[in-house]
Amino acid sequence: MDPYSLLRPLFFKLPAETAHEYVTGGLRAIQSIGPARRALRSRYTYEHPALAVECFDTTFANPIGVAAGFDKNARVFPALSDLGFGFVEIGTVTPNSQAGNPRPRLFRLPGDRALINRMGFNGDGADAVHSRLAANTDAAGPLGINVGKMNDSDAETAIDDYRRVFERLYPFGDYFVVNVSCPNTPDEFDEADPDHLRRIFETLQAANEDDVPLLVKIGPESPRESLYELVDIVEAYELDGIVATNTTTSRDGVTDPPDERGGLSGKPLETRSTAVIETLAGYTELPIVGVGGVDSAESAYAKIRAGASLVQLYTGFVYNGPSTAREINRGLVELLHEDGYDSIEEAVGADID
Ligand SMILES: Cc1cc2nc3c(=O)[nH]c(=O)nc-3n(C[C@H](O)[C@H](O)[C@H](O)COP(=O)(O)O)c2cc1C
Repeated sequence: MDPYSLLRPLFFKLPAETAHEYVTGGLRAIQSIGPARRALRSRYTYEHPALAVECFDTTFANPIGVAAGFDKNARVFPALSDLGFGFVEIGTVTPNSQAGNPRPRLFRLPGDRALINRMGFNGDGADAVHSRLAANTDAAGPLGINVGKMNDSDAETAIDDYRRVFERLYPFGDYFVVNVSCPNTPDEFDEADPDHLRRIFETLQAANEDDVPLLVKIGPESPRESLYELVDIVEAYELDGIVATNTTTSRDGVTDPPDERGGLSGKPLETRSTAVIETLAGYTELPIVGVGGVDSAESAYAKIRAGASLVQLYTGFVYNGPSTAREINRGLVELLHEDGYDSIEEAVGADID
């Protein structure tokens, strides 16, 4: 029996953000003890050559990553890779520290295997994250860095915010993601406005001397035409991929939605985010990182067949615990085998005409 099935009811008695702090505190403790890290690795890592993915000039041992938001401040990404994840995306990192929204701001919807959050870019800021990354000489898998703006920035200063985080953390990211799709930051201006995006991408690419892979993370609400327009801009500025999707403000598929503002993640988001991936993959050859409602080998495989080269999850990890990556990766190898594929890469986009 997985110990998490015993621990989960205890964690779920705590407020969701407090439980998250306990879990990350535990991971930090483990991370500081070499033999404990090795024990974690041997228990939770599942390795198989069919799982390896070449993407963004980097080798990923497996396609299952931790989505942005879990390790906002780069505190536990080594332990997360010990838990068998093929990569971790830290952040969203903002240039300065900020408190985010008042608590409570994270809510569980256990009946729907979902979460609602309105964290609001709480974080330690780029300098603190820089110190942690510089001190960590033991990063296991590839590291993505998700960059965002301060909550009080306007359209003009937001562009400088992205640039400041990008430049400050530049040496440490195997890829960077511009997050223009958080539903929990103030609606001062439309972050996904095409002209605004052009200016962000132009500014970041001008600073991108070593051509580090640069991606954009989008929300699940965009209609087909807007997705095509976004891809055209992404290609014009030679970005390297798209992360799809962030959380949704919709409550579709939720049995009894609580009266809480924020972004919905988990199972109710799954089909919507897969549909966005399929639309993107039908229109562009750019790699897509698929995220939204993944919690099993089947749901990860659906994202891959829809066109995702890599997959991420957050909510599924909260519900399924430390064996999440191992179980998904083990199941993926079986699903590949059943369909006669020798590798993940052969299955990417199999459902696209
Ligand atoms: C508590 C919480 C905090 C999050 N914070 C961020 C964030 O800072 N930046 C970001 O790009 N996405 C953030 N996300 C969104 C996730 O990265 C992911 O896109 C979304 O939750 C859908 O995946 P899931 O259904 O596997 O959770 C957050 C999600 C949750 C639940």
